[in-house]
Amino acid sequence: MTIKRITKNIVLIGLMGSGKTMISRALAKRLRVERFSTDEQVELKEKCSVAEIVAAKGWPYFREVEREIVKTLASKKGVIIDCGGGVVLDAENFDILRKNGIIFHLDANPEVLYQRLKGDQSRPLISGPTPKARIKEIYEERLPLYNQADFTLDASDPSIEGPIVEILKKV
Ligand code: S3P
Repeated sequence: MTIKRITKNIVLIGLMGSGKTMISRALAKRLRVERFSTDEQVELKEKCSVAEIVAAKGWPYFREVEREIVKTLASKKGVIIDCGGGVVLDAENFDILRKNGIIFHLDANPEVLYQRLKGDQSRPLISGPTPKARIKEIYEERLPLYNQADFTLDASDPSIEGPIVEILKKV
């Protein structure tokens, strides 16, 4: 089997639960390239979980660290970058990621996202009393931002094979 050589980064964006982690891991394995997650890098730098950072220091602090991590990761070449769902809130993040990368939006509908995320305690953004409504609200708020991606892929199906094949065709 020949392995495709990628020169640009593959950047995955989308809401929590859209499959970025699983898809980025599978792609990294198939393409034999490095994969980085902005959340994991933030956690490594801060030596605690995203939920703990947000609880102790608040969202603006988390976003600031996330911005620094995006800068570092975006300067790499030929890697896969799994972005936390809120990376798109900062237009500069988008611009930096686009310079060396092709941006893919994994789009799953809010009901599917809710089913995947319910009971998950690691996401402070939806830890309130009405997670289902909150997911729908965030989805609608952010859709125009996610739609700035180079490609939008349907990620509602439980199988990750569809989006993977689509990404491999485009890179
Ligand atoms: C967030 C998504 C999370 C994490 C943080 C904020 C968001 O990442 O960065 O809880 O604002 O959508 P995942 O999308 O990887 O869950």
